[in-house]
Amino acid sequence: MNEQQRKEMNQINQANPADIKSDQEENLDRLKNIDSDELIGKYFQTTYEPPNLKKAKKRRREDVKIHYDYQVPEDMANIGKDKKFLIRTYGCQMNEHDTEVMAGLLTDMGYQSTDNAQEADIILLNTCAIRENAENKVFGEIGHLKTLKTENPDVILGVCGCMSQEESVVNRILKKHPFIDMIFGTHNIHRLPQLLKEAMFGKEMVVEVWSKEGDIIENLPKVRKGKIKGWVNIMYGCDKFCTYCIVPYTRGKERSRRPEDIIQEVRQLAAQGYKEVTLLGQNVNAYGKDLTDIEYGLGDLMDEISKIDIPRVRFTTSHPRDFDDRLIEVLAKGGNLLDHIHLPVQSGSSEVLRVMARRYTRERYLELVDKIRTAMPNATLTTDIIVGFPNETDEQFEETLSLVEEVGFESAYTFIYSPREGTPAARWEDNIPMEVKKERLQRLNKLINKQSAEAMKKYEGQTVKVLVEGESKKNPDVLAGYTERNKLVNFKAPTSAIGKIVEVKITNAKTWSLDGEMVEDAVEVK
Ligand code: 5AD
Ligand code: SF4
Repeated sequence: MNEQQRKEMNQINQANPADIKSDQEENLDRLKNIDSDELIGKYFQTTYEPPNLKKAKKRRREDVKIHYDYQVPEDMANIGKDKKFLIRTYGCQMNEHDTEVMAGLLTDMGYQSTDNAQEADIILLNTCAIRENAENKVFGEIGHLKTLKTENPDVILGVCGCMSQEESVVNRILKKHPFIDMIFGTHNIHRLPQLLKEAMFGKEMVVEVWSKEGDIIENLPKVRKGKIKGWVNIMYGCDKFCTYCIVPYTRGKERSRRPEDIIQEVRQLAAQGYKEVTLLGQNVNAYGKDLTDIEYGLGDLMDEISKIDIPRVRFTTSHPRDFDDRLIEVLAKGGNLLDHIHLPVQSGSSEVLRVMARRYTRERYLELVDKIRTAMPNATLTTDIIVGFPNETDEQFEETLSLVEEVGFESAYTFIYSPREGTPAARWEDNIPMEVKKERLQRLNKLINKQSAEAMKKYEGQTVKVLVEGESKKNPDVLAGYTERNKLVNFKAPTSAIGKIVEVKITNAKTWSLDGEMVEDAVEVK
């Protein structure tokens, strides 16, 4: 911060909340007239650096400090009294969970949550950068927010999450959408109270995006979305640098939480009556690698968590390269560790996997699947697949289809490759036309649908344990929940069954869900 900025901040600190409206209106008028390049030069005052493979790869295993003493600043603790917030979340479960933390921070500041944008005093877009269409959706939403801002200049609009970590996105917002009040990155979430203060009392758009990851802050408040299933971060970041993927840049280097902190959080969830936890990380199998003082991996962690009295434990996402024997041995013991494994393969061709820098071959992946199947004969395997990676040949795509059949994936998230600025693959020439890529995606989806339907069919007549989550989204007369193997089940039952694990007899199988009848009236089973 330079002297001028410091002065401005002091003025901000001393501002009277009663002046906020006039300040904001003034701000909006001024922004309408400002030259956008000037805006970028003047106000883009961050330590931001665009994704840089060489630099990012050289990042070191510096010690990550862990803080247990976080507090919302006193002068912001009541700022949200009688005010409301709305957070729109895009992308993965990690983002969903970050939203829970931001909701916690805002709640600690006195705000209440709302689903209605018209009555919100703060609207945050928690964004995803993984593919271009995810970004397009967000820019569409930003466009809609302009009308809202014009009608209500008091509303504070913020863009956060993975897109904020990209220089091109920040520049585009500064240039084309100057009515946005703040942009902050994935490493700046805990700074939300301070950033909000700057946005409310200051005149400029607030931009804070650290390209270098920060410390781990353990005691950030959270308002969880539900009371049945909870997410628990076990690690942050990714050091794998697959050549197509933006995540190692937007989420920073791998940092593991201490086992005792994770275990305590899972215990707390169990004590609060949660029925399921999902342990989260971009690459959970790398858990513990950066904990230099202990020899401790995901297998060890899962082993300890299996002893906690919580009925269901899942984890996502796995990387085949780091999936070790210890983990398989622990998962094979069963109990509350569910035998549904999401194991992204990305491609069935060893050559494509090599250029993707996945660091395993088709054969190694199949060996791993064999190992898992031997230890857990009933395990359900699901995956992620990218089609149309630069220069992927027809033969290489056929190898993906044959791998899907050989493994027998019961479902898969499938994507057309989307070039992400700053990643190595985005710089490569690509001779595969989009039409061909779309055709491949269709063929792949057809195969996955067929395999999913076949897997579902096997459940007809069987009785399964369902964790009841609530009314079905499509039909409020019907309740919906998931089996241990993550199959969606719809069935008629009294609402008293919500939040319980009940037995359901499957009467009809569809491609992506099962219909059934509850065996006993809301009798909980474990
Ligand atoms: N294009 C298409 N799909 C991608 N994924 C990650 N990056 C890209 C990209 N650039 C997919 C991978 C990953 C999932 C979360 O998203 O399959 O496993
Ligand atoms: Fe991206 Fe996953 Fe590869 Fe990490 S392991 S770079 S998050 S695809």
